[in-house]
Amino acid sequence: MSKIQSVKGMNDLLPDTIDQWHRIESSIRQVAWQYGYQEIRTPILEKTELFKQSIGDQTDIVEKEMYTFADAGDVSLTMRPEATASTVRACNQHGLLHNQQQRLWYMGPMFRRERPQKGRYRQFHQFGIEAFGWNGPDIDAEIIQVGARLWKNLGIRDISLLVNTLGSESSRKTYRSELQAYLQRYEADLDADSRRRLHSNPLRVLDSKAEKTREILEQAPKMGDFLDPDALAHFEGFRGLLEAMEIPYTVDDRLVRGLDYYTSTVFEWVTGSLGAQSAVCAGGRYDNLVEHRGGKPTPAIGFAMGVERLIELAAIETEIDQKRCPDIYVIPVDAAQQSLAIKLAERLRDANLFVVTHCGGGKIRNQMKRADSSGATLTLMLGESEVASGSVTVKRMRAETDPGDASTAQTEIKLDDAVGYCVEQLARFNCPN
Ligand code: HAM
Repeated sequence: MSKIQSVKGMNDLLPDTIDQWHRIESSIRQVAWQYGYQEIRTPILEKTELFKQSIGDQTDIVEKEMYTFADAGDVSLTMRPEATASTVRACNQHGLLHNQQQRLWYMGPMFRRERPQKGRYRQFHQFGIEAFGWNGPDIDAEIIQVGARLWKNLGIRDISLLVNTLGSESSRKTYRSELQAYLQRYEADLDADSRRRLHSNPLRVLDSKAEKTREILEQAPKMGDFLDPDALAHFEGFRGLLEAMEIPYTVDDRLVRGLDYYTSTVFEWVTGSLGAQSAVCAGGRYDNLVEHRGGKPTPAIGFAMGVERLIELAAIETEIDQKRCPDIYVIPVDAAQQSLAIKLAERLRDANLFVVTHCGGGKIRNQMKRADSSGATLTLMLGESEVASGSVTVKRMRAETDPGDASTAQTEIKLDDAVGYCVEQLARFNCPN
């Protein structure tokens, strides 16, 4: 019978990589906490309308990538492709923005039916932050700082910041019609997607990867030339703060982002280390979304980063051995010593140690092999003679844990003293997990 495989683009996270996930997740939690962001968890399924109305009917995500199905009663539901829309929905639903500002973060799986390739999956994970209720460029700069601190904490250096502004609504409107008029002159030479977008959403043409379209765009009008004084002041204020924080950036006037809710500041953190999928983190302002979803007018800004891409990048850049090895491996030499071994292991865990108990019996030679391959620092053996003398044999497994002693020493310790002895040995020799 053929084995059933996982859905294409939806990956299992296996035990040998999970330590990396934990390390990154705890860095994320730490950074979010340090900046005063609180966690929010929203459901994976939302009403399809939420994403259509928030992300935009004519975006790639809504047009081609959503996992949508009819629930009982023909209610259309969608597996969230991102969580900004869900966060706004939750804030409005629970009154979190009534005369309040909010700094929120989330982490979890998102779903997009994209063509899978390295760094691009159909189920992937995002860490995102969203700040509601601040108008000024100071919060824009803070959002960038959160990313920068995470890169610093994770030892990531190959990452750079692209910024742009989509201006105010009125400046965007003027720019939109100027760009449209310009592109219409070259309509026949545009790629099919851009031709379609030319009428519905001409700014998205700026995103095109088609060579001919890119050539046409070289001479296209630039958003920067259409900014009104307020939009310009906001963008300059933001850039000034980035400079004060010594965060290098490049202004990329083609950066428009693929979701319709953005207004004003937009940005992307990109890397050269991950091939085609270079965007690690992206976001921007969406000052109208809360109101459009039925809330009071509330300015907002946020970002989301792809956790898989972040993990990949951190692994390339830091080369840290992520595996967490047990402190202690406990071996009952025969079945008769099993209950004593289990009790001893529990006492060691009471002292907050990572203890693996050998299960499944077998010859002592094979049990020792298992202890060795577990990577444990110490192995404790309980055999007939140890039990008779009320003691346990402690074997240090790694010669390199004691530079002064090439042998892997073995010694017998009274059972009552075993926990204290192990704690003291581990403090001296344990690998820096
Ligand atoms: P986004 O640019 O669609 O923005 O996604 C943000 C990040 O999620 C990307 O930069 C990338 O790292 C990761 N990502 C997206 N799609 C995939 C995929 N198929 N496989 C792996 N990683 C992926 C948003 O989602 C907005 N909600 C960001 C935001 C928050 N804007 C304001 N607040």
